[in-house]
Amino acid sequence: MTPSETVLLPGTGPHREEALDRAVCLLLEGELVAFPTETVYGLGALATAADAVARVFVAKGRPSDNPLIVHLASPREIDLYARPGPVVSELAAAFMPGPLTLVLPSRQSIPAIVRAGLPSVALRIPDHPLALELLERTGPLVAPSANRSGRPSPTRASHVVDDLDGRIAAVLDGGSCRVGIESTVLDLCSRTPRILRPGTISAADIAAVIGPVATADPRSGDQSAAPPAPGMKYRHYAPAIPVELHLLEEVEGEEGFDLKIDFKADESVLLLLSEQFEPEKVVPESDRVAVRRLDEESLFTRFREAEKEGVDRIVVVARRRELSEGMLNRLQKAAAS
Ligand code: TXA
Ligand code: MG
Repeated sequence: MTPSETVLLPGTGPHREEALDRAVCLLLEGELVAFPTETVYGLGALATAADAVARVFVAKGRPSDNPLIVHLASPREIDLYARPGPVVSELAAAFMPGPLTLVLPSRQSIPAIVRAGLPSVALRIPDHPLALELLERTGPLVAPSANRSGRPSPTRASHVVDDLDGRIAAVLDGGSCRVGIESTVLDLCSRTPRILRPGTISAADIAAVIGPVATADPRSGDQSAAPPAPGMKYRHYAPAIPVELHLLEEVEGEEGFDLKIDFKADESVLLLLSEQFEPEKVVPESDRVAVRRLDEESLFTRFREAEKEGVDRIVVVARRRELSEGMLNRLQKAAAS
């Protein structure tokens, strides 16, 4: 049954404990509750209740072949749901809780629907006090990003309401998410660990702890480049307005970089520039062009605000070397039509 009204629960301030109690009760009853993590808001449901998990796919409009991440309160629980290999304890010590998801051989305790039938399961310990308190009280929760499938991930409670109002029981409001893009997904089922989805924890960060890591990054020249996570084949992170990406490669000197962006007089544009870019090099002065800086924390919020403000086009101009792997990936996905 689809709940008719979505309740907003205040996760900060004097009613925090009541809000948490209510969120826990709803989840234990098999309802869907969105909650904040350090990356983006997740849409929570009991990971061991196949019927609750089925409702997550319906609420998001998510294809059933796209598996979900199971969130845990502590790395000590990993062994209950997966068969950890030798490097897991090192990764846990370095990055957990934090924005890293590990794909490991699953145990039977995880229903097949969570894994979209795969033999592996994705596990993550979020670094957010509200998420951790919830997880301690409910046990493992699936939590895909709490957006309608294909939309930018939500980094504020209001984004979740915009996408899922009337389709889920509640949203636990914890304010803005600190990281802003989704976790790095690392596959540990093959011989060489492979990054399936880049995030703020980079390939180099992981390699410093466990040695060589394969990536799907074409710049790495890695021929064993990973097929992306099942979810990465879908158009993603995209606002309802066109996103145009202009990347300045290392070899091009700034002087020689001629953008030729065609700004129409009657068009409203959001121009996102990487940190070291001078706006004057790109944009004619116009009150129809809003110039903002690119950063991970605000990227999806900017996309969603531009939609609401009736912007016609989002133009991104960035030096490639200024972008993290995660940022480059999200921009390329958003710009792909
Ligand atoms: O930061 C995050 O990871 C957020 C927060 C809420 O924790 N969650 C999130 O979940 O981004 P979702 O469902 O939007 O993305 C999960 C990604 C998808 O690309 C999915 O295909 C992949 O992880 N994935 C999940 N289980 C997998 C598995 N067993 N093997 C390979 N990829 C998997
Ligand atoms: Mg998602």
